[in-house]
Amino acid sequence: LVRGNALTMARQVLLYIWFLSLSSALGQVSYSIHEEMAKGSLVGNIAQDLGLDLKRLKSGKARIYTGDSAEYIELNKERGVLLIKERIDREALCGQTTPCALHFQIILENPMEFFRVTIEITDINDNFPSFKKSTIIFRISESVILGSKFMLEPAIDLDVGINGLQSYTLKPTHNFNLKFKNQQGDGENVELVLQKPLDREKQHDIKLVLTAIDGGDPQLSGSIEIHITVLDANDNAPVFLQSIYKATVTENAPKDTIVSQVSATDADEGVNNKVEYSIANMQDDDQQLFEIDKDSGQVTAVGIIDFEKARNYELRVQASDHGGLTDSCKIIVDVIDINDNKPVINIMSKTNVIAENSASETVVTMINVQDLDSGENGKVQCSVNENIPFTLKSSNVNFFSLVTDGDLDRERESEYNISVTCADEGVPSLSSSVTLSLQISDVNDNVPVFDKSSYEASVQENNTPGLSIFTVRARDADFNQNARVSYILEDSSVNGVPVSSLVSVSADSGVIHAVRSFDYEQIKDFQFRVKAQDGGSPPLSSNVSVKIIIQDQNDNAPQVLYPVQSGASVVAEMVPRSADVGYLVTKVVAVDVDSGQNAWLSYKLQKATDRSLFEVGLQNGELRTVRQVTDKDAVKQRLTVVVEDNGQPSRSATVNVNVAVADSFPEEFTDFPHKDYNDNLTFYLVLALAVVSFLFIVSIIAILSVKCYRWRRERMFYKSGANLPVIPYYPPLYADVGGTGTLQHVYNYEVCRTTDSRKSDLKYGRPCSESVISLDSSGTQTLTHAQRGKLINEDFDQVRFFYLQFVRTQIHGNWPWC
Ligand SMILES: *[C@@H]1O[C@H](CO)[C@@H](O)[C@H](O)[C@H]1NC(C)=O
Ligand SMILES: *[C@@H]1O[C@H](CO)[C@@H](O)[C@H](O)[C@H]1NC(C)=O
Repeated sequence: LVRGNALTMARQVLLYIWFLSLSSALGQVSYSIHEEMAKGSLVGNIAQDLGLDLKRLKSGKARIYTGDSAEYIELNKERGVLLIKERIDREALCGQTTPCALHFQIILENPMEFFRVTIEITDINDNFPSFKKSTIIFRISESVILGSKFMLEPAIDLDVGINGLQSYTLKPTHNFNLKFKNQQGDGENVELVLQKPLDREKQHDIKLVLTAIDGGDPQLSGSIEIHITVLDANDNAPVFLQSIYKATVTENAPKDTIVSQVSATDADEGVNNKVEYSIANMQDDDQQLFEIDKDSGQVTAVGIIDFEKARNYELRVQASDHGGLTDSCKIIVDVIDINDNKPVINIMSKTNVIAENSASETVVTMINVQDLDSGENGKVQCSVNENIPFTLKSSNVNFFSLVTDGDLDRERESEYNISVTCADEGVPSLSSSVTLSLQISDVNDNVPVFDKSSYEASVQENNTPGLSIFTVRARDADFNQNARVSYILEDSSVNGVPVSSLVSVSADSGVIHAVRSFDYEQIKDFQFRVKAQDGGSPPLSSNVSVKIIIQDQNDNAPQVLYPVQSGASVVAEMVPRSADVGYLVTKVVAVDVDSGQNAWLSYKLQKATDRSLFEVGLQNGELRTVRQVTDKDAVKQRLTVVVEDNGQPSRSATVNVNVAVADSFPEEFTDFPHKDYNDNLTFYLVLALAVVSFLFIVSIIAILSVKCYRWRRERMFYKSGANLPVIPYYPPLYADVGGTGTLQHVYNYEVCRTTDSRKSDLKYGRPCSESVISLDSSGTQTLTHAQRGKLINEDFDQVRFFYLQFVRTQIHGNWPWC
């Protein structure tokens, strides 16, 4: 630049010298003026310089000739000077050409003369360096290498020389410097050179100011803005906000449940900023479980998450931009267990049958329970249904044993369906159950039980031997052999004979058979025991009492006790001729050893000497007169009375009664009924005597009867049944009578009431001994009619009773108390 300016100055000096020499030689004159001088400014005193007189100028009509060029200069003839007519702009006139001069002629007439005038226009610094545009815009990638050059448009300064463009400055110069490049004939080129790398991420817009400076005084400058937009290059990798993400997901989460959200940023922009996410490390299985949205980074569960398969997952997520730069992070997904597995019950060992006498705590079944869930969801509690004698014991975690807990009884419950239910502690809880069937086997723990606590059966006497009487039955609650009952007759004796000779029991059926024919008159009932025994080992048994009642048949004819029938002495009954109608002559007394209807006797008059004189009471056997005795009636009357029982068929007996009709009784007896005092006294004396006699007789009889009883007992049943004598059987109980004098039981009224057996059937009895007893010790003496009437009316029964007993002992050699 300096060198250039020096050159220009030298050229101008040379030109100036040339002009001066030319003008002096050729009549020409040169001036030098600055451009831009004000109108009217003085350029030069032409008159003087040309050596012309002012008058010549006027006369010669001096004028300026410029040809067809613009006239910038005018000639002032009065003063002989050249003045600026138009403002002169050098740059407009000459551009960059130097030197710049105006050439014109001054023409004079009279004589014609012309002079050449050259006016050199010198430059003044009136132009600023300028740029064509106001801004320069560059788009530069941040990735350009250092030293890269960017051409700048040069500034233009219309001025020339020192006033022309001299230099450039750039501000700021962080990244760029200026570099100049000289090109031949084209001035200077200026370039931006990258000194320091660009980083869009730090500064994406750079504004520089380029200033062009000229060399004038004062210096002028022009500047231009350079806008540099730094273009992004993919020089930044995506970066995850966290390197490890933690997330949880519940197992069995529905599809598309959001698990986590990852995010990576890329400092680049535009397409380089776009990040795509992907799951990097997944195995085939896991791939089906999670998915990541490639744009949003949202991780969702898409498969079935099973806590029991994996409790956590580790996902490696990669973020990559379009340039292939990547970052990765880890997602740790913990799976939260939910209670989705039922407990599984496994039967490890099992008993199907258990004996009913098994001890408590006998192990029946071992159970193992598994629950795949964890924590509370996997904690299992088991229970069995209630009200059964079994319980669960936990020996170990998840191991249970079912043991007996209480007494088993096959007879009550022969089978159990034990339902074992296991539930975990999850919310809601899941459970499963299993039913175990357990049979209880029998043990012989029940005795046979008879249907009744005692049996009573009756059988008609004179039965056929081997007759089945009835059946006893016992049941055993046990099973099978333990319940098979057999019946056994217990050994015992009845009145000294073994019971087995009376009855037998069928072992299988319990049918009781009569072994022989029974005789009611001998034995009215007997008892024995039957044992029922089961087939268990050891066997159990029970026994029951059986009473067989033998029922009476009418197999005995009535026996007439009075009047005594003996062929030798025939006792005659006395009837006074004065006897009234209805006079009681005598009474036929008969007994029947049968009982009930079979012993209900009725009396009838069968034959009589004079049928019109007597009648017999049908029920009581009383023989009475039916009309007044007359003198015509025979002294001896013979009557035959038939006594008949009421059995089916009935049996009967006959008795002959002799009656003597007498004229009168002795006189002393006739007053007797009138002497009440004596009568009573006598009565009591007789009574006392009778009682003393009676007691004496009783004592003797008692002693004898004990002996005879023993003897008879031994003898009685050794005789064959068919040949048994007709002897009433009196249970030993009857011997107790003596103390109180009270006779009880059937025998009592049967005998006492024979005379009125209708009453006896009605079963009310009056103890015989309560009545006053009168007994004629001789038994043959006749009583007065009054006495007899009274005695017979009141106490005939009693008298007859004792008499009867007495007679019996005579007949049978036995006593009623035996
Ligand atoms: C046990 O279950 C079986 C089969 O379901 C059934 O036949 C039987 O009656 C049940 N027993 C009891 C005691 O409930
Ligand atoms: C019969 O049973 C009773 C109890 O009912 C018992 O005491 C008795 O010993 C038994 N007799 C026999 C002979 O077994």
